Amino acid sequence: MAEIGTDLQKAKALLEQGELVAIPTETVYGLAGNAVNPQTVTKIFEAKNRPHFDPLIVHVPDIARAEQYVEEIPEKARKLAKRFWPGPLTFLLPKKPIIPDLVTSGLNTVGIRCPDHILTHQLLKQLPFPLAAPSANPFGYVSPTTPKHVNDQLGDKIQYILDGGECRVGIESTIVHFENDGATVLRLGGLTLEQIERAIGRVNVDTISSSNPKAPGKLKSHYAPKKKLVLGNIEELLQLYPAHSCGLLTYKDDFNSPFQFILSPEGNLDEAAQKLFIALRLFDAMPIDYILAEFVPDVGIGRAINDRLIRAAAE
Ligand code: TXA
Ligand code: MG
Repeated sequence: MAEIGTDLQKAKALLEQGELVAIPTETVYGLAGNAVNPQTVTKIFEAKNRPHFDPLIVHVPDIARAEQYVEEIPEKARKLAKRFWPGPLTFLLPKKPIIPDLVTSGLNTVGIRCPDHILTHQLLKQLPFPLAAPSANPFGYVSPTTPKHVNDQLGDKIQYILDGGECRVGIESTIVHFENDGATVLRLGGLTLEQIERAIGRVNVDTISSSNPKAPGKLKSHYAPKKKLVLGNIEELLQLYPAHSCGLLTYKDDFNSPFQFILSPEGNLDEAAQKLFIALRLFDAMPIDYILAEFVPDVGIGRAINDRLIRAAAE
């Protein structure tokens, strides 16, 4: 098992030696390593059992540092960064040669983001290199939002987990691609479409599930728990599935089941997002065979929750 603690100097020293450290962000925990050291980047792919065609996001402490790793920051991206960085927002931008091809899976764009967590922010400021960090889970499984989640699955692959508590947002960053003068959201996430559009006007959304390796973030099987998740109207689903072997994942309704998780009794979407991955992991540990789940309202961060539910339900 890895050590869990808040020792920034220890995290820094390990990272400087080319080792991996799990780091907290506002979205989910990341499995971090020196992004400009190909040997370290290889370790990240190995620890996660992640296919090399799935590129990594590079984390920086501010816009000035982002500028060192991307060729240019278009006006719309700059506007969004000024407004929402640090925050749950990743840009895909043309990479400078200093970013190894391994990080971007050979693509000429790099995913770059400035996470909003005090510990990781301090770490990034003190390090002379940026951190490549995918979510700290085995490939294809639900992202971790607590140090324990990380330790349960990757504890034997890393030495240290920087403890930043439970992630505040609980769902991965929103990914935006820029082309010509337009912007396209490729992954719905912690920053809402509404927030983005208020800042820069209409954007395209292209998050259609596919198995296109050019946009692996859109792989259908992402975020899957081990139990079979079925989406729909829970009352109707209960007619079809044996109640005693079902976990119920509701937005705010109480079914009085011993195997239920109510995401937000008061109907607050931010709270629901923060709890979603915690809930999926709890169901995996329960003596049930199915997770019956319902959609949440499809607005704001609710869109990202629904997106994750659909992916979790995909075969
Ligand atoms: O909130 C987050 O973004 C978290 C925290 C740790 O920062 N990170 C995260 O990383 O979710 P990961 O690797 O689990 O998901 C990043 C997604 C991947 O699905 C990858 O395919 C996509 O971003 N991606 C990264 N770079 C890309 C690129 N250059 N072009 C297209 N997709 C890219
Ligand atoms: Mg991930």
